[in-house]
Amino acid sequence: MYLGIDLGTSAIKAVLVDDYANIVAEGVLALSISRPRQNWSEQNAADFWAAACAVIDQLKVQYPVEISQVRGIGLSGQMHGAVLLDKKNTPLRPVILWNDGRSAPQSQSLNDFHPNLAMVVGVPAMPGFTAPKLMWLKAHEPEVFAKISCILLPKDYIRLKLTGIKATDMSDAAGTWWLDQANRKWSAESLDVTSIRPSQLPLLLEGNTPSGVLLQTLAARWGMGKNVIVASGAGDAASGAVGLGAINDGDAFISLGTSGQLFVATNSYRPAPSTMVHAFAHAIPNIWLQMAAMLNGASPLAWGADLFGMTPASLADIAEAGFKGPASLQFLPYLSGERTPHNNPDAKGVFFGLTSNSGHAEFGQSIMEGVAYTFADALKAVLDAGTNITQAGVIGGGSRSKFWVQILSNVMQIELIRYVGADKGPAFGASRLARMAVTSETPRDVCIRPEIKDIISPQAELVAAYLPKIERFRRLYHALKSEF
Ligand code: XUL
Repeated sequence: MYLGIDLGTSAIKAVLVDDYANIVAEGVLALSISRPRQNWSEQNAADFWAAACAVIDQLKVQYPVEISQVRGIGLSGQMHGAVLLDKKNTPLRPVILWNDGRSAPQSQSLNDFHPNLAMVVGVPAMPGFTAPKLMWLKAHEPEVFAKISCILLPKDYIRLKLTGIKATDMSDAAGTWWLDQANRKWSAESLDVTSIRPSQLPLLLEGNTPSGVLLQTLAARWGMGKNVIVASGAGDAASGAVGLGAINDGDAFISLGTSGQLFVATNSYRPAPSTMVHAFAHAIPNIWLQMAAMLNGASPLAWGADLFGMTPASLADIAEAGFKGPASLQFLPYLSGERTPHNNPDAKGVFFGLTSNSGHAEFGQSIMEGVAYTFADALKAVLDAGTNITQAGVIGGGSRSKFWVQILSNVMQIELIRYVGADKGPAFGASRLARMAVTSETPRDVCIRPEIKDIISPQAELVAAYLPKIERFRRLYHALKSEF
């Protein structure tokens, strides 16, 4: 039995997976974000650990036999966040998250003064990444900066609590802006220009290898054995890929979680900095990835539903019931700014084309379409980065709505495949990494495709109807850019 834990942004999810790759149990616990200032986004590391314990405690109560059989734990998590610890491993301040935009000036100066580094670390500096956040800290909270003994990524704080070990995996390290992606080691130059010492960073491991053993006090608390291996794991994007079996050159999928991604595995390191596509190390040795990273995936639908006092599923149902073709109301979904392709933390959400007839259904549809249009931009960016995609899997909470996936297929003009259990993608991928760390099985043997649930193909008439809307979406962004 393997335990996969995904520390998301809006929830922590855990799955128990048996030796036949069946998910036998799952647990979820919601997390909240604090936004103390414009463009800031923070959570507390203590809450990460409390949530991880609570979700495992809950599984222990409901599935005591299965949990006692756990041989390996895999960790997945939201990427890029800065967990800053003092020399006693106490968090020095709240964690600055992936969707925090405060370090735009520092990112700009990295790109202005060190333009060559993007080819090494896989992408130009953007405020979501860890390194510019540390530069912001040095400028604005020097007393905190001076006390930093170690910088960890969010899931790696849970590892520290589980094992006492400070380590990370290549795919999560990839999102710091400190990793030399081609050589899979910390980049001395990037560390140097951002005033970070190598000793402040965790040990670097491949995702499918062991990082440590579960502390005996915790093993006793959860009724587990004495030698439970904690695998290195992965950032949530790469972990979702492992869950889907996207580990071979050209395997692509889109993720509709709090954030959105268009991801494709590559068998070599293929940077294309001008496109804002992220070229990162994958969680599997000798494999890399290209990823268009959007900051607003399924979260705008959750936001809209919340405003109307509905659930995302009910707003999606109302939108589907009212669907008569592309909505004339258009929505720019940049509630948290945007990374690929705009690199603009100041971009904002916009509804364009309201009339007295605009109601819940049209709002819901325009939100789903607005997110889909950002995926058209993502596809173009990945194409510009030299990779063609004609078919992709879909994972994440947003993939539960077939209607939304159909809109995405029509807008992107590609076939989309939903897999059984794909809404649990990253947690399931983490359980696979745990399995490989325990058994030393090869990625090819473990990372097989899940069972196909359905294949959604573009509908010619709607493809044509969406084309002018995508163009208008792009014009609206450019027209409003200076106003953001
Ligand atoms: C990827 C990214 C997000 C976070 C949160 O670059 O920023 O996907 O990992 O899920």
